[in-house]
Parts: sequence; C-alpha cells; structure tokens
Amino acid sequence: MNIDLILKNGTVVNQDGEHLRDIAVHQGRIIGLDDMTAYKAAEVLDCRNLHILPGVIDSQVHFREPGLIHKEDLETGSRAAVMGGVTAVFEMPNTKPETTNAEALADKVARATHRMFCDFAFYVGGTHHNSEQISTLENLPGSAGIKVFIGSSTGDLLVEDDTGLENIISHLGRRAAFHSEDEFRLRARVGHQIAGDASSHPIWRDVEAARLCTERLLRIAKKYQKRIHVLHISTADELPLLAEHRDLATVEVTPHHLTLSADDYARLGTKLQMNPPVRASHHREALWRAIQSGLVDVLGSDHAPHTLEEKAKPYPQSPSGMTGVQTLVPIMLDHVNKGRLTLQRFVDLTSHGPQRIFNIKNKGRIAEGYDADFTIVDLKRSETITNKWIQSRSAWTPYDGVKVQGWVTGTFIRGRLAMWQGELAAKAFGEAVRF
Ligand code: DOR
Repeated sequence: MNIDLILKNGTVVNQDGEHLRDIAVHQGRIIGLDDMTAYKAAEVLDCRNLHILPGVIDSQVHFREPGLIHKEDLETGSRAAVMGGVTAVFEMPNTKPETTNAEALADKVARATHRMFCDFAFYVGGTHHNSEQISTLENLPGSAGIKVFIGSSTGDLLVEDDTGLENIISHLGRRAAFHSEDEFRLRARVGHQIAGDASSHPIWRDVEAARLCTERLLRIAKKYQKRIHVLHISTADELPLLAEHRDLATVEVTPHHLTLSADDYARLGTKLQMNPPVRASHHREALWRAIQSGLVDVLGSDHAPHTLEEKAKPYPQSPSGMTGVQTLVPIMLDHVNKGRLTLQRFVDLTSHGPQRIFNIKNKGRIAEGYDADFTIVDLKRSETITNKWIQSRSAWTPYDGVKVQGWVTGTFIRGRLAMWQGELAAKAFGEAVRF
C-alpha cells in the first residue's frame, strides 16, 4: 500500500510505555505501528535518537484576537505554539469583544481556520446574562466549553456570586473551566497592594482567596453533580479539597507555578505578576507532590501575553500575565531531565489528560485511527531560552537566559509537518478540534 509517511526509529512514548517503534501515517491519521512491511511511503523521516510524543495540547492560552492584537493574535500565538511543539490550543474568551455568544465564537473560528498554525478550540465565557444559552454555546463547533472567571483578571468577564455561578453550573452538560479566586476577598484586600512592589501581589491575592473560592465552587458542583475543571491551581491548601472531589473536579497546574516562586519577584518584578499569583516555594513543592500523586490532570501554559511596555507600568497598574505556550515543552522536559516527572507522566498531562477530560475526538494518543499529531523532542539537547526566540507578538519570556536540557525538534499536525528544527515548515493549516 502506498502511504504518505513513515516515522522511523523514534522512541514512541504513549499508552504502551516507551519503545523504539515505527509509525505509519496516511491522510492525516495514524494507520499502523511497528510492522511497516505492507507500506511504501512517499516520505520516510528518520527519528533516531528522538522521542515521539502524542501532540501536546495546551488547554489554556490567551491569544488576544479580536481586540487586543497589539499583544498577540491568532497567527502569532499559534506560531509560538508550533515552535514550542504544541499541536492544539484551547483559547480563552477574554478578548474584545468577549467570546460570550454564538456570533463571537463563529467569528473566532472563521479567523482561526487555516490562519492558525495549530489546531484550536475556543472557550465561551459564562456570564450573568447567558446562562440560559449555556447548553447551546458549549456544544457549538469549535467550542472548548464554558469558562468562568470567579475572580477578576484581564478584561471584564466576572461571575463572582454563588447565584450567578449556580445559574451557569446548573445548565452545564460538558465539563466547564473556572478561574478560582474569590472576588469579594480580593476587593476587601486591595489595600494590601504595595505601589511599585509586585511581590505584594500574592499578599493581595492570597492563599485564602484561592482556597475559599475553590471550596465554594466544589460545593456548587457537588450540589448539581456537574463536572468542573479548576484552572491553574496555585496553593497547597486547595489540594486536599480537590482530592475529595475527584468524581467531579479535574485539576490544571501551570509550568510557571511549578518552576518559579515568590523568591523570583526581586529578579523579575511585574514580569512574574500573574493571576493566580506565583507564591511561596512550599506551594510549588506541594504542586509537585500533586503531580506525583496523580491529582493533577493537565498542564496548561496560561499563555497570557502583555507587551513589555505594559508590564513596565508600576505595580499595580501593570497587567497580570506572561507568555508560556512556546516554553511549556522545553521547561517541562528540563524537569523530566532533572527527574521531577517521567516522560510518560508528561504525556499523560499534556495529551492523554486533555483528551480524557475534554472528550477530544481523535487526538491525544499515538494509536491507530488517531490524528497524526506528534511533538518530536530531543531529550539530550541543551539550549538557552531567549526573548529573541519567542514568537509571541509580546516577544518576551520570564525564562530569558534560562538554560534547559530537552528541546523540541519537530511538530506534526494531522500528518503534516508544521515545524522542523526551529523553522516553520508550512503555511498555516489549523482547524477546529472536535469533541
Ligand atoms: O494573569 C493572568 N492573565 N491570569 C488570567 O487569568 C488572565 C490572564 C490574561 O488574560 O492576561
């Protein structure tokens, strides 16, 4: 049989473990593993000394289009994604206009199709006004489901009260994602912000604001028996609560909460400012234990670009957010090399996890019939991350100058090469993820 592509001699990391295997690809799908005798491929790619992972799915990014494209747009954000080995992203609704209705979602899907370099889905923001339409909005083509900000962050999306949350949660069919910080507590503590000092950010948006909100959220999810996904968990204090609600709640952590700590405010200032905040190092260590115990389901970058000029405003006028979609894989491979998680656990967090909790069709596994999405990495290669390498329009990273071991060699999406050795390999051909 004549087929499109064989990936030869790579170490495939998937549900079977880690083994030297060949992969046959035809018409965008994986059609076979191991025994290639029946195939004659138009192209054979030698992946000797490389690891082939299922395509990395980043289920939390902010790409700022429409409305805030001086920070990022769907093209620049997705270019950063494929350069960093990410094959699909779920993008957040706090754009201008916000993605809170069918028209705004359709507009994003139209803008993204064959203009984004990776595959995509878009969250629809839950508000005080659209709860009656939730079951329609979460199931539209290109919808990753509903996202709710319970604490305010960049933009105006906010449902801070229990009644508003109950209206949304009671209507859910799919799992919905939540930014869990208690807005009432944030308002009451605003006096804790110290002008010009970003290290006061985690004192203002304190541990209790996150814990209290997650407790409220879990109580409501339990009342209505609905499935929720709690984004970017940042505190040790939320972990036991989440562990008690494994029947309903899934858990995301971010590379920055696993890598950076409050000790870095002195060095990075407002560049480290993020919601929820990067906190004292014992929280970081607790998040690592949650990775090791299996409590964490997915890693998301929460790529939230703002320009350097915006970040240079004195705290608290400075916006919260940092880039992350391009550095997710190298930063985490460095942790793999340092022995903090296995490569298989990484794949569980970035491919199998998103596939399972969001019910993604045909992605997230290296298995017959699945989309041929691959993140091909060189675990031995050492590189220094620099701002110059960053493809985001905001063009900076908190990891500028950081040396890592583990680098992305190539990105395949639906059988087509999107990036190889740091070069874009094709025009944009991104399409909507299906659920
Ligand atoms: O720090 C953050 N920035 N956290 C969020 O939840 C939103 C994001 C943004 O959009 O800038």
